[in-house]
Amino acid sequence: MVFSMETKILDANNPECIKRCAGIINRGGLVAFPTETVYGLGANALDEKAAEEIFALKGRQMDNPLIVHVASLDDVGALIKTTPEAFKTLADAFWPGPLTLIMEKCDIIPDNVTAGLDTVAIRMPEHPAALALIRASSKPIAAPSANPSGKPSPTKAIHVMYDLSGKIPYILDGGDCRVGLESTVLDISGKVPRVLRPGGVTLEELRAVIKNVEVANQVEVSSPRSPGMKYRHYAPKAPLTAVLGPPGETAEYIKQRLSGNTAALLFDEYGFEHLHVVTYGSSKDYSKQAAHLFGALRKLDNMDISAIYAQTPDENGLGFAIANRLKKAAGDNIVDLR
Ligand code: TXA
Ligand code: MG
Repeated sequence: MVFSMETKILDANNPECIKRCAGIINRGGLVAFPTETVYGLGANALDEKAAEEIFALKGRQMDNPLIVHVASLDDVGALIKTTPEAFKTLADAFWPGPLTLIMEKCDIIPDNVTAGLDTVAIRMPEHPAALALIRASSKPIAAPSANPSGKPSPTKAIHVMYDLSGKIPYILDGGDCRVGLESTVLDISGKVPRVLRPGGVTLEELRAVIKNVEVANQVEVSSPRSPGMKYRHYAPKAPLTAVLGPPGETAEYIKQRLSGNTAALLFDEYGFEHLHVVTYGSSKDYSKQAAHLFGALRKLDNMDISAIYAQTPDENGLGFAIANRLKKAAGDNIVDLR
């Protein structure tokens, strides 16, 4: 496949720009658009060829299914076979918002979108531009995060430009993503709802609404050896070590290892003037950490360094998702001072 086109950044608040991008979607093309979690790389979810382009452009494994984005509850019926008991409660509580629900799929969804699974991931994003794009194209939109596979997700239009310039015609610029981490993926196709990926909606928030929620084995990353950890995701170029424990101790551990070609990712309170120190929010403010994490990893990618040590939050609330991303970025490099 030959990529060579000029990529333009369009204003997501301008209805004309939304219309232009909807036209691309309807012609089987791809555009990047903002959501409240991260920027997505969107295509018509009912068009097998368009979905194929998403995989090609991201260099994504064909066995990794896509999320289908809808703009209203009425859009869901045509996509799923049966409505799970918990669906209405969860959608009422968390949609539009950073929760993706896995349910049994209908045949109109091409097999490549779901990677051959008989379930489909569906989410209603909250960002007005995402909703406007879905409505203007009258299509459910399949969209992974708009980054090359394995790299940190984009949380600003300029991140997408950096990653996908020349490969797509338009990037809708809707500003910085509010959440900054991907949606929580919750499988409700079985008896007990199961979190497959922690994200913008916390476990505590889910448990306040539905009684039983399990966490799938591969995301229980308390053991660095668990099988899901063998792949690096969300990963900066230099190897990253996730350092867990009380912030005072992790900061000290990292400081001792900072050298000419080593970088540190620290909470604000522990940051200091140094060429290779990047901060990403207060140790007490998970929302800030989430919003700044991927941008911080991208900053580290622009440094001439050969190792990164990252102060990692505890796993309460949004901390669970933040720590999950850092551990995935770390692969096997996890230091636990607890
Ligand atoms: O916040 C988000 O979810 C963003 C924005 C753009 O909406 N999208 C996103 O997509 O993060 P992606 O492709 O980067 O991640 C989708 C995740 C993957 O972990 C994938 O394996 C899982 O959802 N997934 C999708 N369909 C699934 C299915 N049928 N069963 C299990 N997991 C599924
Ligand atoms: Mg992704």
